[in-house]
Amino acid sequence: MKEEKLLKLLESLSWTEKVGQLVQLSGEFFNTSALTVGPQQKLGISDNMLKHVGSVLNVAGAANTKEIQQQYLEKSSHKIPLLFMADIIYGYRTVFPIPLGLGATWNPDLVKEAYTVIGKEAQSGGAHVTFAPMVDLVRDARWGRCLESTGEDSFLNSAFASAMVSGLQQDLDKQEGIASCVKHFAAYGAAEGGREYNTVDMSERKLRQDYLPSYKAAVDAGCKLVMTSFNTYDGVPVTGNQFILKDILRDEWGFDGVIISDYAAVRELIDHGIAEDNKEAAYLAINATNDIDMKSPCYANELEPLLNEGRIDGKLIDQAVLRVLKLKNDLGLFEDPFRRATEEKEKETLLKEEHRALAKKVTAESIVLLKNEHGLLPLDPQTDKKILLVGPYGDNQELIGLWAVHGKTTDTISIKTGIESYLKPENFHVEKGCDMLESYEFLGEFGATKDMIDSLSMSDEEKAMHLDHALREARSADIIIFAMGEHTMQSGEAGSRTDICLPQIQRAFMKQLIELGKKTILISISGRPLVLTEEAETIDAIMQVWFPGTEGGHAIADVLFGKTNPSGRLSMSFPYSVGQLPLYYSEFKTGRPLTSSTHSGRFVSKYLDSPNAPLFPFGYGLNYSSVQYSDLTLSDTTMSDELLINVTIKNSSSIDCLETVQLYIQDVVGSVVRPVKELKQFKKLSIAGNTTATVQFILTRDELKYYTHSMDYDVETGSFIVFVGPNSEETLEASFQLV
Ligand code: BGC
Repeated sequence: MKEEKLLKLLESLSWTEKVGQLVQLSGEFFNTSALTVGPQQKLGISDNMLKHVGSVLNVAGAANTKEIQQQYLEKSSHKIPLLFMADIIYGYRTVFPIPLGLGATWNPDLVKEAYTVIGKEAQSGGAHVTFAPMVDLVRDARWGRCLESTGEDSFLNSAFASAMVSGLQQDLDKQEGIASCVKHFAAYGAAEGGREYNTVDMSERKLRQDYLPSYKAAVDAGCKLVMTSFNTYDGVPVTGNQFILKDILRDEWGFDGVIISDYAAVRELIDHGIAEDNKEAAYLAINATNDIDMKSPCYANELEPLLNEGRIDGKLIDQAVLRVLKLKNDLGLFEDPFRRATEEKEKETLLKEEHRALAKKVTAESIVLLKNEHGLLPLDPQTDKKILLVGPYGDNQELIGLWAVHGKTTDTISIKTGIESYLKPENFHVEKGCDMLESYEFLGEFGATKDMIDSLSMSDEEKAMHLDHALREARSADIIIFAMGEHTMQSGEAGSRTDICLPQIQRAFMKQLIELGKKTILISISGRPLVLTEEAETIDAIMQVWFPGTEGGHAIADVLFGKTNPSGRLSMSFPYSVGQLPLYYSEFKTGRPLTSSTHSGRFVSKYLDSPNAPLFPFGYGLNYSSVQYSDLTLSDTTMSDELLINVTIKNSSSIDCLETVQLYIQDVVGSVVRPVKELKQFKKLSIAGNTTATVQFILTRDELKYYTHSMDYDVETGSFIVFVGPNSEETLEASFQLV
C-alpha cells in the first residue's frame, strides 16, 4: 500500500479504532490456544475494544494464526490485519543452542545463517514478528536470563545483534523471514544482585559505553521494533522514560519503527510507584513514545479519556498508530494477511534436514572445552574401554532450554543417542544414577500441580536403586561420563539464583563415583555460567554444552569422539565463586590493583577468601590441537589513523583447528578511568595441522573512541597497550602512542 493510502486509512479510523492498533493481547482473548508468559491477570478490556485490537501475543502455527486472522477480518470494518508477534528466541521448531551458547561460537556469520532458518520456519508458522534478539549485556551469572544473552561484552554482543537481525529479516520484503524486535531496551541485564525484574542504576557513561551498543547495532541493522525493558534507569522505569525512549532511541538514533512495552510493563508503572493509576501509566508511556501496550488495560481504557480531557495531543496517538500501520504494510499484510503461511508450507519447512544439519554445526561450535587433563579427550570410538554415561541428562531429550516454546523435546537428539552412534554396544552403558534435583517444589510457581511434582521426584528406594546400579557399573567402567546440569526451569526468565553450582544432589552423586578413581568427563548443561570450582579440581575433562538444542546429542558426541575439534570460547566469565559477581574481564582499573599496586598484602583490591580472577575467563576454550602464539608486532610505535598488528600462530599438532584470535586494547591514561582490557576485534580462522598462520588486524583510530570526561565520543591521544591471544588472560602485549 502506498504511504498516501496509509495516511487516508489512518484518517478514516475512529479514536477507538486507532487506540486498538496500540493494544496487544494474547491468544486466549481470541478464543484459541495460546502461550501466555508472565503474570496473568483479569484485564478488564471491553468487548468493543477487543474487536479493534491490533496485534496478538504468542500465538503461532499456520492453522491457528489463519483461523484467528480470518475471523477477525470478517468482522473488521477497515480490514486492517492483525499482527502476530511471538517469542521465537533461538529456534522455532529446529532449536539452536541458547544464545549464551551462540555467543560462545564467536561466529556471527554462522549465527546469521541460524537466524535466517529461524525466520523461515517462523514465517511458515504464521508469525510476523519475533521478540528477538535479546541483546542485553549481562555480567551477573545469578540472573537467569544470561541464557538469552550472548554475554558480557558489548563489542561481541553487537556483532551478534546485527547478525541475528539480518538473519531474521532476510528477504522480509519478499515475505520470507519475520520482523525483528530487539529487546529489552535498555540495560535490563544490569538488574541489581542479578535478581529478576530488579532495579538498574548506573552512570550514563556506563550505559552508553557498555550497555547501549548492542541495541544500537540491532537498530542499525534495521530491526523493525524495539521492546522496552522492565527496569528503571535513573529512577524512571524505561516504559515511561523519555530520556531512554525519546531522546536516545527516537531522536539520537533516528528509530522510527514500533516501540512495544514488555509484558504488562505499562501497568507496572503503578507498581514502580511513578503512576498513581492506569490513566497516569498510559500518559507516561505514550509520552515516552511507547507505541504498543502489551497485555495491560492502560492504553485500551485510558488513551481516549486522556485525549478527551485534552491531556494528550491526538498527534501523539496518530504517530504511534501510523508506525504500527507502516509495519503491517512493510510486512505486506494488506496484500496478504497470512503472509504466505500455509499448513503445507509449514510442514515442508519445519525441521528440514538442512535445518537440522545447520543446528548440528552451530551446536558443535558452541561447545566449550573447559578442561582436558592429559588429553583424555577425544575418546577413541574404536576403544575397547568400557564407558559409562551417568546422570539425569544422559538419556534425556530435555535439551532445548526454557525459551524454545515452539520446539519439541521429542525432536531432540539425546546425549545417549549421540554416543550410541560411535560406540560398540558392549562397551557402552547408561545409568540415570541420580535425580536432577533434591526437590521439585519450586515448579509449583510455574504452574506444576502437586501430582506433577510428586511424579517427578524419585522415592528414597528409587534413589538408592539408581545409585546402586550406577556404582556397580562404574566399578567395572574405565571412563565415566557425567551428564549433569541445571533443570530447564532454573534459568531463563524469572530464573535468578544465588547458588549457581550444579544441584547438590548431582554433586554428591558425582563425588561417590569420582572416589572410584576412574577417568571422568563432565558434560555440563546450563543456561548460565555455573560455579564449577570443585569439578575443575576433581574431574579430568569438562565440556560446557549449554542447552544445546535439537541436535545436541549428535554435536556433543562429535566433540567427544574428535570428529569435531572444539572451538567454542566463553562469552561470559565463569566465576570461581558466586561472591565475585558481577564479574567481567573489562573491569575498570582501581587505585590499588591486585598485581601492580605499591601497597602490599591486605590493602589492595581483592577478596580475602577468593581470587579476583574467574575460574574460566572470557574468551577461554581449549581444543585438541596444540596452538602457540608468538611474534606480536605493530607496524609502528605511533599511530595516527591506523595500525597494523601481526601475530604468528602455530598449530604444532596434526589436528586442524578453528582458532579464535582475540585483539584487546588498554587505553593507559584517559580523562576518565578506562577498562583494563577491551575487546576490539577477533578473527575465527581455520589452521591446518602442522602449519603456521600470520594473522593481521588493522586497528583504526575510530575504534579507540570512548565517552570522555566531557561525554564526547572521541579519542584521547597517549599510550595504548595491545593484547593478542586465545582468550582475555593469556595474551601477548605491545604498546604504541596515539598521536
Ligand atoms: C518477557 C519478554 C517476552 C514477553 C512476551 C516478558 O515477560 O520479559 O522477553 O518477550 O514476556 O512473552
